[in-house]
Amino acid sequence: MKILGIETSCDETAVSLIEIDESGDSPAFTVHENIVLSQAEKHAQYGGVYPNLAKREHAENLPLLTQDIFNKHNVADIDAIAVTAGPGLAPALWVGVTHAQELAEKYNLPIIPVNHMEGHIYSVFAGGNTFSIPRFDMPLLALLVSGGHTELVLSTELGTYEKIGQTLDDAAGEAFDKVARLLDLPYPGGPHISRLAAENVVDESISLPRPMMHSKDYRFSFSGLKTSVLYLVKKLKEENRFDEHMKKAIAYEFQEAVCDVLVSKTKQAVEEYGAQTLVVAGGVSANQRLVDRIRTEIPGIDIYTPDRELTGDNSLMIAVAGYFQYKNTTLPDPDTIRANANLSL
Ligand code: KG4
Ligand code: ZN
Repeated sequence: MKILGIETSCDETAVSLIEIDESGDSPAFTVHENIVLSQAEKHAQYGGVYPNLAKREHAENLPLLTQDIFNKHNVADIDAIAVTAGPGLAPALWVGVTHAQELAEKYNLPIIPVNHMEGHIYSVFAGGNTFSIPRFDMPLLALLVSGGHTELVLSTELGTYEKIGQTLDDAAGEAFDKVARLLDLPYPGGPHISRLAAENVVDESISLPRPMMHSKDYRFSFSGLKTSVLYLVKKLKEENRFDEHMKKAIAYEFQEAVCDVLVSKTKQAVEEYGAQTLVVAGGVSANQRLVDRIRTEIPGIDIYTPDRELTGDNSLMIAVAGYFQYKNTTLPDPDTIRANANLSL
């Protein structure tokens, strides 16, 4: 069977086409198309994602991308459309949902409304031109870290999830983006901070807090950390000490602070819930330092992270999550599907 995947929850317009061979013991996936059109450069001037610009860009590009797929592949071979229903930016999500509804009506296809965060979980199993889902032991714990979310999710069976904790304020990726701005780095800031941090410049005069690290629960908070960087930068500027050396030292200390919190809470959750499999996904899972530290500091568990090109938003993960939803649940009437900015796992 073939599934068309659509993702427009934030600033990536993404369309994919996968084929699933169900003849073997486990489904075998082939990726026919996996297109991601990033708007990041257009949002850079605003220092973050500007929802109405995202909506306009999705509306302009999404029909072109799906048409491109229909030009290359026979629409009659497509069995279902998987579309991100939430969470995300409402105006952006609606573009994907209404386009899916138009296609569903035109070609008489069912729609699978996919939770974007479940998509990120499945992203770790996808990759390459062909793949299958490996055998892994349950329970599975997922650390989902992106520009909009920071959460720990537990699953004893894929398809059902329990969120055991999340951020009270900024997401980890959002903190990276805001701190990058304070360091005069462009949006999205995560890759720029990690590049500077990789130079391992340590300055003993700098130390940042590790918010809620010892709270003993799975709540996170990153806005105070960003405010600490704000005051630090202010002070360094007054003292005429805000130079390249200091920017590198701040990037390093900030990244260590975020990693300290994420690693220690994830380790605690793995132990408390007896997790056998750990998934780290979402845009911030592109951070090599975070992944390296999780691998060394949380031993004795199978750890899955996405291929670099699937760390950020994409529709391949939506199509794969959609396939399992298609197999295991009753799909709603396409006309009743709504975008839900606050959809939760
Ligand atoms: O999953 P994603 O593409 O979009 C959302 O659903 O939010 O995540 C984007 C976030 C941005 O905040 C970006 O700065 C962050 O992921 N990010 C990183 C790195 N690469 C991307 N954060 C830290 N280190 C990185 N290397
Ligand atoms: Zn995402």
